[in-house]
Amino acid sequence: MAIVKIGENGTLTDRQAVAEYLMASGVRYDVWMPEDSVEANSPAEEILKAYAKEIQKLKALGGYVTADVIDVNAQTPGLDAMLAKFNREHWHDEDEVRFIICGRGLFHIRPKAGQVVPVEVEAGDLILLPKGIWHWFDLCADREIRAIRLFQNPSGWAPHYTESGIDKNFQPVCFGSAYLPPQV
Ligand SMILES: [Fe+2]
Repeated sequence: MAIVKIGENGTLTDRQAVAEYLMASGVRYDVWMPEDSVEANSPAEEILKAYAKEIQKLKALGGYVTADVIDVNAQTPGLDAMLAKFNREHWHDEDEVRFIICGRGLFHIRPKAGQVVPVEVEAGDLILLPKGIWHWFDLCADREIRAIRLFQNPSGWAPHYTESGIDKNFQPVCFGSAYLPPQV
């Protein structure tokens, strides 16, 4: 389940609480259970098949036309260059939709008003960032994530950078179950 960091020391982990908190920033959150159980390391076609119902529902809702599975891990060639494209504050001309199969990642979302919202996602989490929303993304220390992506138009998914520099004020460190708030 996702973990949302609120303020200095607080976190939200309850599904409903996370969904409501993120919705206030325009971000949709949900948890998917597969129709038939599927191993996280199954071929992409099997993963897409296992979640076909949810994918279809989301496609109808958001006008998404394609879905694929992305695999990123420490052995991925050019990983650092790839991450460097997305770990600076940016937006896209289309929604960023991710359903996490395994691994973890850290989104920072900056609403037009209010505080930056750090969200750590893991297996079972669906996160939908609407087009135009400011955000950035880092992998956790294990540098591994596998996720279903949905696109309205894959060519619209290039990042546009805000160049705000705000991302530099936030540690790209996941909190996870081992997270301990800093002592003050
Ligand atoms: Fe993005």
